[in-house]
Amino acid sequence: TSCKLCHANPASGAPLTGDGPAWSPRIAQGPDTLLDHTINGYNGMPPMGLCVQCSEEQFLALISFMSGQHIQ
Ligand code: HEC
Repeated sequence: TSCKLCHANPASGAPLTGDGPAWSPRIAQGPDTLLDHTINGYNGMPPMGLCVQCSEEQFLALISFMSGQHIQ
């Protein structure tokens, strides 16, 4: 739900949920970098994606869901 605030909002500049091409180069960075950017923040991406209670496993599941690509 907190991810959707931005990842379903074109005005936010975030890669949108289900937008495969926007996610591909990000997924290519690997799960460690993606998790690091999710937990510590990355440009317009706020630390923890505003979900302070989310676990690393939940972040990976969310990123898999939003990108439509499987992440370990
Ligand atoms: C306040 C808006 C906002 C929220 C909330 C948000 N994001 Fe983001 N996110 C962004 C923006 C903007 C970017 C693009 C950053 C860039 O590439 O400059 C981004 C990028 C990302 C990336 C790609 C990072 C990379 O290395 O390319 C991941 C993964 C991500 N978000 C995961 C999440 C998850 C998971 C949540 C929810 C727990 C979330 N985001 C919530 C704004 C948000």
